[in-house]
Amino acid sequence: MKILIVGSGGREYSIALSLKNDKNVESLYFAPGNGATDELGINLDIKDFEKLADFVENEGISLTIVGPEAPLVEGIVDVFRKRGLTIFGASKAAARLEGSKAFMKDFLARHDIPTARYIQTSSYEKASDFIDTLSAPIVVKADGLCAGKGVIIAKSKDEAKKAASDMLSGESFADAGKTVVVEEFLDGFELSVFAVCDGENYKILPAAQDHKRLLDNDEGPNTGGMGAYAPTPLANDDIYSQIEEFVVKPTLKGMREEGAPYTGVLFVGAMVVGKKVYVLEYNVRFGDPECEVLMPLLKSAPSELFYKAAAGRLNELDLQFKDEFAVGVVVASENYPYKSSAPKPISVTAKNSAHSHISYAGVDKKDGVLYANGGRVLLCVGIGKSVKEARDNAYDLTKKVFFEGAKFRNDIAYQALK
Ligand SMILES: Nc1ncnc2c1ncn2[C@@H]1O[C@H](COP(=O)(O)OP(=O)(O)O)[C@@H](O)[C@H]1O
Ligand SMILES: [Mg+2]
Repeated sequence: MKILIVGSGGREYSIALSLKNDKNVESLYFAPGNGATDELGINLDIKDFEKLADFVENEGISLTIVGPEAPLVEGIVDVFRKRGLTIFGASKAAARLEGSKAFMKDFLARHDIPTARYIQTSSYEKASDFIDTLSAPIVVKADGLCAGKGVIIAKSKDEAKKAASDMLSGESFADAGKTVVVEEFLDGFELSVFAVCDGENYKILPAAQDHKRLLDNDEGPNTGGMGAYAPTPLANDDIYSQIEEFVVKPTLKGMREEGAPYTGVLFVGAMVVGKKVYVLEYNVRFGDPECEVLMPLLKSAPSELFYKAAAGRLNELDLQFKDEFAVGVVVASENYPYKSSAPKPISVTAKNSAHSHISYAGVDKKDGVLYANGGRVLLCVGIGKSVKEARDNAYDLTKKVFFEGAKFRNDIAYQALK
């Protein structure tokens, strides 16, 4: 089959790489893709959803997979489905679980899904009164999409009030901050758990851990994610069963009842406090870099997972994973995440193997040469029989990748190895 992948990051590259080795897949297309995806398929410069659907129809593409949240929130899935096209992703109504934190928190409350105590409001007085009932640290979140920058963990009530006031006035995040969520701080460890859903049925994937901070020991500013690994031994059977029973099942049921059946990937941002799982947030797509460490662990054909989920037939699938671990180390540009960096040519002295490979993200191609174009440039992924072996393979690969100003964390997967 022919498959279109919407997006341009390492996540989309890794989905494509896994599909490339799938015998059901004839050819791949990307909208827009990046400087390296053109080695895996054809990059398209079509932004308009209707025009993209025209292309899919004319080309006989049988499946579209949407990587990032923005097109989902903008309704790409609705446009494609209306035209009878098979697409993997959440509808516009379902994507509100990520597009609005206020909607998401109220949804969790309506369906008794465990989450931090909160209020959502557009009134400074109400936010301030609620802050007075909490003790520091206090979490203040902008309602709308803020590219991972809309959450403040305030160290005092005054700081929390200032954050709420800056958001509500529109100063911090414009319209995305016109409503805020204020919530209690949960002290535990975080997991990323993904459920692939078809509205009715679901498949839970191995739990992963992301590393949001720029520097080793979780120091420095937040980033889009500096590395990930899976499966994490921190998630035991009890945690998986809590996520299934108290999170995924009631969410699918609740979304059906509310007229927005959930399809695509449900990303559960979980915090485990003591032994209890709480939902921090939902995302309506794969995490990036988590996706890059989950795709290589799939034993089942990835085309079947995506196609059956998009077609509402996940119940037919016996999803299998390899008995291995994957660790992904993000290699970023010099000035990330503060400001952009000048393009730098990339050289790689290793070939992809069964033990390690590169997943390309922020890259452009000019005259056949790959350039790091700023931000998160690529991921070195290592595979192994243990977290340690996978990590060693990933770090061995980082030694074979060069561009000026390249930087990465040295402690990815530390929580699994301490
Ligand atoms: N209630 C909370 N208690 C403790 N930490 C939190 C809480 N809410 C969010 N965080 C931290 O802030 C990060 C970002 O918050 P999240 O809700 O995932 O928003 P986003 O990913 O949209 O920025 C989380 O990954 C977590 O580390
Ligand atoms: Mg998050």
